[in-house]
Amino acid sequence: MYAKRVRKKRLGILASGRGSNAVALIKAAQKQEFPAEVVIVISDNAEAPVLQKAEELGVKAIHLEQGPKRTFLIPEVEAKWVEVLREHEVDYVLLAGFMRLLKKTFLDSFQGRILNIHPALLPSFKGLDAQGQAWEYGVKYSGATVHFVDDSLDGGPIILQEVVQVADDDTAESLAARILQVEHRIYPEAIALLAEGRLQVRGRRVKILKETHER
Ligand code: GRF
Repeated sequence: MYAKRVRKKRLGILASGRGSNAVALIKAAQKQEFPAEVVIVISDNAEAPVLQKAEELGVKAIHLEQGPKRTFLIPEVEAKWVEVLREHEVDYVLLAGFMRLLKKTFLDSFQGRILNIHPALLPSFKGLDAQGQAWEYGVKYSGATVHFVDDSLDGGPIILQEVVQVADDDTAESLAARILQVEHRIYPEAIALLAEGRLQVRGRRVKILKETHER
């Protein structure tokens, strides 16, 4: 089915840290039948392990200047990042543990083409340490969510979610580890659907089409 595709979709990953989701995405995309390829990994943190991990898998990985603010990129800096992504002809931007909020310059440049993975069942436990928040709260189920990015915090339309049951003897760490395994599976799955043109977005609702030709 993918053989007919003229050009694989081009993915750019933004990541700030350890990079396990970036690695999962790169490995999934290195399979011949996957409808997209990772062409660049960009980090706001020169020391981030993700940079070396991506390089080891043969993917270009660079640090770009993050500018003066801790939680976001100022417009001039966003413009530079967008320029680099455009130079690499990136179709979709994937946030994978990227610790800064994207603002207008970035969002406008890749409207509807930015995705994120969040380690909880949104809209529960937005923001940092979602696994710890869920464990502290005492929920019986948490999970992972892949969603489009808009100007709200972890608030864009939801593409895929999967439930993880919380066990009585879980710690925040053991729960996070099981959620992470799910993340590594559903993020590539969502990207494949996206790249195959099988996501139909209507307001907050994302419908998964059975076949590309239904579009
Ligand atoms: C993941 O849990 C992801 O859901 C969250 O940040 C973490 C990043 O981990 N947004 P890694 O860098 O992908 O290993």
